[in-house]
Amino acid sequence: MSVPSLVAEGVSVELGGRRILEHVSVAARAGEPLALTGPSGSGKTTLLLVLAGLLMPDAGRVTYGAVALEPDGAPLRERRGLVLQAYGLAEALTAEENVTLPLQARGIPRTEVLERAAGALAAVGLSGLAGHLVGELSGGQQQRVALARALAVDPEVLLADEPTSELDADSRELVLERFRQLAAAGKVVVLASHDPEVTARCATVLRLRDGRVEALEAGERPLSPAASASLGAGAPASGGVVPTRFTPPAPVEVPTEPAPTAAASPEPAPTAPAPREPAPTAPAPTAPAPTEAAPPEPRAPEAGRAAGEPEEDDPHALWRPPD
Ligand SMILES: Nc1ncnc2c1ncn2[C@@H]1O[C@H](COP(=O)(O)OP(=O)(O)O)[C@@H](O)[C@H]1O
Ligand SMILES: [Mg+2]
Repeated sequence: MSVPSLVAEGVSVELGGRRILEHVSVAARAGEPLALTGPSGSGKTTLLLVLAGLLMPDAGRVTYGAVALEPDGAPLRERRGLVLQAYGLAEALTAEENVTLPLQARGIPRTEVLERAAGALAAVGLSGLAGHLVGELSGGQQQRVALARALAVDPEVLLADEPTSELDADSRELVLERFRQLAAAGKVVVLASHDPEVTARCATVLRLRDGRVEALEAGERPLSPAASASLGAGAPASGGVVPTRFTPPAPVEVPTEPAPTAAASPEPAPTAPAPREPAPTAPAPTAPAPTEAAPPEPRAPEAGRAAGEPEEDDPHALWRPPD
């Protein structure tokens, strides 16, 4: 089985009476990480949400394997892993519990759930903090818990919004390596980021400006030769080998990372904090299914639910977006 391409065709989005994306087309192919970049406010997050099937475009469409995404995210919904800017973690649960939530919702046997969670947390260097409450972790550690949760569902398509915004240099390398491994395993990887280290690692870079495509270019350092080889020399990008069973990446020890306190976080303050999401003035994106790897951030609830207010039946109901 090969993972198909995720393709945006002539996508336009209006929010709050403004045109946010204007006729954007781009393809994210298996094995070829795609970076969405551009200045703050250029539309990176909006395009990521559209590609994830969390926000329906006003014009154009997104297809996965030539099938147009439905308002409920199908057919991508069960196949995607999401790392959104507000993380969507339950602060009163441990890191391990957060990672196991979507796995339990999928009816995966308990033993495998624990095995996957342990593997995913190890893959982001958080084994030692599995039993810690997420609310006690630093921003960078929470960001990695969110990534572990997305990895644990073994997604065909991984979409991450500013995934390195709160990470120190070592953790960033670790996380970028995980993305590379996913791509090398033949998965689709889409990263919205203004971090040049991220875009430089991606095979394709889409530069946005004011919601329009400014440039579509090859990254400076596309996939390593080893990664390309694992997809088969000369094989079409969409024909990568896809493991059918979850195989956790090799555990990595991140240099001494003690359980933090609020006063002594080992993560440095982000040098370029992710841009804040805009004021909630437009319709909320489609609500995630209970089995979703991560809920969408409360980006635009126009009426009813306020930002941060839990949805009914939301498995992540304790979640509050970070300040
Ligand atoms: N719900 C919304 N209502 C009105 N404007 C919005 C909404 N969401 C985003 N925008 C605007 O769309 C533009 C692009 O936002 P965004 O996709 O978050 O950009 P980026 O991720 O590149 O910083 C910004 O000008 C932002 O203010
Ligand atoms: Mg953004």
